[in-house]
Amino acid sequence: MDIKSKFPIFKKYPDLAYLDNGATTLKPEIVLEKMNEYYREYSANIHRGIYGISERATEEYESARVKVARFIGAAPSEIIFTFGTTASINLVASGWADKNLKRGDEILVTEMEHHSNLVPWQNLAKKKGLKIKFLPLNGIFLDISDEVLKNLVNEKTKMMAMVQVSNVLGTVNPVKDIIEKVKKINPKIVVVVDGAQAVAHMPIKVKDLGADFYAFSGHKMYGPTGIGVLWGKKERLEETEPVNFGGGMIEEVTEEGFRMASIPFRFEGGTPPIGEAIGLGEAVDFIEELGWKDIMEQEINTYKYLEEKIGGLAEMMGEGTIKILVMKGAHPHDVAQILDTVGVCVRAGHHCAMPLHQKLGLMASTRVSLAVYNDKSDVDKLIGGIKKVNKIFVKED
Ligand SMILES: Cc1ncc(COP(=O)(O)O)c(C=O)c1O
Repeated sequence: MDIKSKFPIFKKYPDLAYLDNGATTLKPEIVLEKMNEYYREYSANIHRGIYGISERATEEYESARVKVARFIGAAPSEIIFTFGTTASINLVASGWADKNLKRGDEILVTEMEHHSNLVPWQNLAKKKGLKIKFLPLNGIFLDISDEVLKNLVNEKTKMMAMVQVSNVLGTVNPVKDIIEKVKKINPKIVVVVDGAQAVAHMPIKVKDLGADFYAFSGHKMYGPTGIGVLWGKKERLEETEPVNFGGGMIEEVTEEGFRMASIPFRFEGGTPPIGEAIGLGEAVDFIEELGWKDIMEQEINTYKYLEEKIGGLAEMMGEGTIKILVMKGAHPHDVAQILDTVGVCVRAGHHCAMPLHQKLGLMASTRVSLAVYNDKSDVDKLIGGIKKVNKIFVKED
């Protein structure tokens, strides 16, 4: 599969080894073209204009919602367009949890959360007097033994926030099993799953997972920045309050008050990122046209090759498409800078997961994260770069 040719950035930089897909993925030509088409040919506002180009914009925007819904096995009315995973989780925290949780209630999170699925809960906990508990790590996996869960989950646990795929360790959490287990102890727990690192790498059917909310970003699945999704179960969305009040989310307004529009429109106050939503719809088409079988096969081949080639060159941790490298004697920022000199893009730092790094006993790490266009040639460049780092920095014991 010649996937690189579908991405215009590789025409400009044919030798680029882009291995920072956990941060954001590159964009295929068809997504860029589709967005360009909106901005060039029918860049009117949606849901308001009674004229051709506005109607076209509305149709394309709503058709993107239908594609996203189909992509995750949901109904279009359960898909809320947001600005990204962070905005989606904040909508759950401010729109659902703020209204439904009270002083003394508990929220269960995991020790591998991205700040975007931790800080909104910490903020809410501070405001409302809630307690946050952490599902612990066991190596790079979560400890979900009955004993641990029995100690953490009780009738006060009202909410669970959990990442599906760790953005540092690549761990694919068995969210369905975990949800089943926690809901068995307390069926009233409302679960929000952070799917930011999952949606580009595996088929997701939200209803099978048993979650109440599912959040993800367009830009990590070959779509544009500035667009994301919150899926919610119908009953949960009915209990959720909008956070953006104003134009676009009302049915009727008088001087005395207002009546909200139906779901999902009441959650999309103000002009949404129209071209970006349309671009996300095209990203869904891109993934579906490649097909999960080929996508997963390509990614598995690439990470297996990396696992084989790394040998003793660096300590590598992680599952699947995301790995962190720990190199004795070299700071991750130095590693990333040297890799940049050979055209390899990786991430250095805490990857918005400081508590997880503290748990792992690391100040920072170098992260390699793969996408469907990565292949053995990228791994070879990475390995060449790591050898260069070793030559400069890593001292023999
Ligand atoms: C697991 C996880 N959750 C949440 C986010 C936040 O996504 P966004 O910045 O698109 O809101 C990220 C982004 O790195 C992530 O990896």
